[in-house]
Order: sequence, then structure tokens, then C-alpha cells
Amino acid sequence: MSQTLQAIRGMNDILPDEAELWEQFEELVRDWLRGYGYRPVRMPLVEPTPLFARAIGAVTDIVEKEMYSFTDSLNGEQLTLRPEGTASCVRAVLQHNLLYDSPRKLWYMGPMFRHERPQKGRYRQFHQVGVEALGYAGPDVDAEQILMSGRLWDDLGLTGIELEINSLGQSDERARHRTDLIAYLETHRDQLDADGQRRLHTNPLRILDTKNPTMQALVDGAPKLIDYLGETSLKHFEGVQSLLKDAGRPYRINPRLVRGLDYYNLTVFEWVTDQLGAQGTVCAGGRYDGLVEQLGGKPSPACGFAMGVERLLALWADQGNAVERPTVDVYVVHQGEAAGRHAFKVAEHLRDVGFAVQLHCGGGSFKSQMKRADASGALVAAIIGDDEAQANEVTVKPLRDGGEQCRVTFDGLAEMIGERILGPECE
Ligand code: HAM
Repeated sequence: MSQTLQAIRGMNDILPDEAELWEQFEELVRDWLRGYGYRPVRMPLVEPTPLFARAIGAVTDIVEKEMYSFTDSLNGEQLTLRPEGTASCVRAVLQHNLLYDSPRKLWYMGPMFRHERPQKGRYRQFHQVGVEALGYAGPDVDAEQILMSGRLWDDLGLTGIELEINSLGQSDERARHRTDLIAYLETHRDQLDADGQRRLHTNPLRILDTKNPTMQALVDGAPKLIDYLGETSLKHFEGVQSLLKDAGRPYRINPRLVRGLDYYNLTVFEWVTDQLGAQGTVCAGGRYDGLVEQLGGKPSPACGFAMGVERLLALWADQGNAVERPTVDVYVVHQGEAAGRHAFKVAEHLRDVGFAVQLHCGGGSFKSQMKRADASGALVAAIIGDDEAQANEVTVKPLRDGGEQCRVTFDGLAEMIGERILGPECE
């Protein structure tokens, strides 16, 4: 026998038990986003490679090492599986002129692809819920996005997720900081690891984000970007903070929070937990006022974030907050030819009035069908023999919380099952 084929490492199947949890999460997320006036948008999974190089930055880990890129064999075009959604979202907004008459609040959900080393919480195909507000300049949007993500953790009943914020200022402020930072790091060049040496002149800000413990002292003594921020940038940062304080949402300023994508300016933030091991960032984002223009649009401020669905769901499951929901309400078992036809009618009738119904298919004894009914997770079994079929009746047996089996007429069935599922006893 040939070996069964396996999924690609770091790309996971999501099997029914887990997929149902995903659906529950997605329903909650949709309601939450509607509550803040965000509208959905869906972009392709594949985009022209230059989009990401231009948006995310040519000297970032994502663009340098992590993109799944390939050449279109028909026309030689360089294409990439999207590693994130912001670049695609802005591309779509510009392509369809959505910023023409008003700002936009958009969200998307779906798979992203990064060729990283897989480990718990870090996958090669992972899923994000992304939120982008385009055309908004004030700190109110930054604060609202931070607070709205906080509300989602509350809605999900998640605890232990902490907020870190920072300001990256504007490009001229970063340029002055960068010059001083490079000078400082050059005088301590011998203490830089290989990554640090490589990034010294290309992306020195990222050196501050190093996880290498031997470089912590060096990084602690480096010039801090916050000291280079001008009045306007500081005012924006203070504006965000005062709204967070008004809302009673605690936060920590992390001067080393620089993010791995180059499009950010001013506010950046991350929600982190220590409950997921090394991959503790469940949500991250910030302001990217230059990106729209960089991708060919009229200058337009913007702010957004994305959360890692796998990480949040791991936390949700670990913390035991996901409610198990029945997969179906009613399992219909039947035996005999007339019973089979009656069962079909009963199942359709129950679906007409809104129940989720699994009609037993494939025959078998009542006993084996009842086993299936039990295993299905249904709340009640509707049992139909030729006897019931002839009398236009159904026997209803509760499967979960005990309770008597009883027989009802076809017309009284839906009401009886409703009562069964909602509570009261069988008369
Ligand atoms: P990001 O920080 O690269 O930002 O990703 C956002 C979140 O996606 C991370 O905090 C993490 O939860 C999740 N994530 C990232 N990589 C992986 C992975 N390999 N496996 C599992 N989860 C992962 C962005 O992507 C920006 N586009 C966010 C944004 C939107 N900024 C503005 N608007």
C-alpha cells in the first residue's frame, strides 16, 4: 500500500471539533466588528510580489525570508501568497477608489502564509482577523482600535492578555534617531550578534527588538526613539494614552516595541500573554499613515491591527471558555419502508421550523441507530417505526438530561421538541 500523503509542515487541517470552535469564534467576531461599524472585505490570497516588498519593506524578515513566492508559468509574473492582509487591503481600496468620498473601516479574515520555522503558535499557514481604518488621522481611532480589541478579549472571557504600546514617531524623527542609534551600535559593534551586524545599516531599529539575552545591556543603553519625538508626535501619543486611561484600560509603554513591518509610524501596539509559550503575541498593529501614498494613492492616514486566530483559540480552549454547542438538535431514527418515508417528512418539517436535524442514513437496527444518535451529540432522538408512521406520530426520546420518552402527533412534534430542548417535562 502506498504511504498516505501528509499536509505540508506548519499547515494544519482543522477537524470538525475544532472547526466548530472556529465558527463560534467567527460568529462572535462578526458581531463585535459590526458593533464598531467595520465592514467586511475579501481579498485574493495571491498578490504580485512587489506589493509586499513595497508595503512591508524589502529588508524585513517577512520579505527577505518568509514569503512563498513563485513565478506564474504563463506570463512570468512574480507572485506571492499573502503573508499579511494590510498591503492587500490598501491595494484593494486604491484599486476600487474606496477612499474617494469618505474614510473606510474595513475588516477581513482568512489564511496568511509565512515560511517560518513551525512551532506551537507559529505556523506557515495561519489565520488572521485584520481590521483597517483608512482616512482617519486622530488618536481617537488608534485608541478605539486598542479598546475594541480589549473588548473582544472580554467578550471571549479571556484573561491574562496585556497591552503594550509605543510610538514610532514620524519618519524624520526616526531618521535622526536612526543616525544616533547606528553611531551608538557602531561603537559597540563587537557586542552585536550576526543578525545585529547584518541589520546595523539596513534596519537598526529591529536590533532593539532582539531576543538575544547577551545583547540586552547593549540594547538598554541605546538611544530611545521616544526622546526624539517632536511635539506633534508626543501629543498624538498622549492623546491615545488619555483615552485608554479614561476607559480604564491598563497598558505598559514598551520603548522596544518596533514591529516587524516597515509601514508603521506613531502608535504601535501589541497584546501579549505569557500563557502560550514563546509565541505570546495574540494581536498587533498600529498606525501606518504613509502606506496609502507609498502604494500610489493620495496621502491618507490609516491605522489597523490583526490578531492571530490560532493563538487566540488556543488560549480560549485552554482557559475553558468556549461553550460546547450541540452539533444537531434532533437525530431521526427509523426502521421499515413506511417509517423511512415518514422519517424523511418529519426531518424536513423540523428543519422548516428551524431545528438542526440529522436523518439516519444507511439502515441498521434501532439499537445501532440509537448508538449513532447518542454519538451525534443531538439533544433528542425522533424515533419512527412503521407503527408511528401509520398513526402519523413520532416517539421522542431525550438523549442528554434524562427525561421520559413519549409519543406525539406529527402536528404537535415541533412544539414538543422545542419544549424538550428548552426544558419543560413531557406531558
Ligand atoms: P503581524 O504582527 O505580523 O502584523 O501579525 C499579527 C498577528 O498575527 C500576530 O500578533 C500573531 O498573533 C499572528 N501571527 C503572525 N505570524 C504568525 C504565524 N506564523 N503563526 C501564527 N500566528 C501568526 C500584521 O500582520 C499586520 N498586517 C497587522 C496590521 C494590520 N497592522 C495594521 N493593520
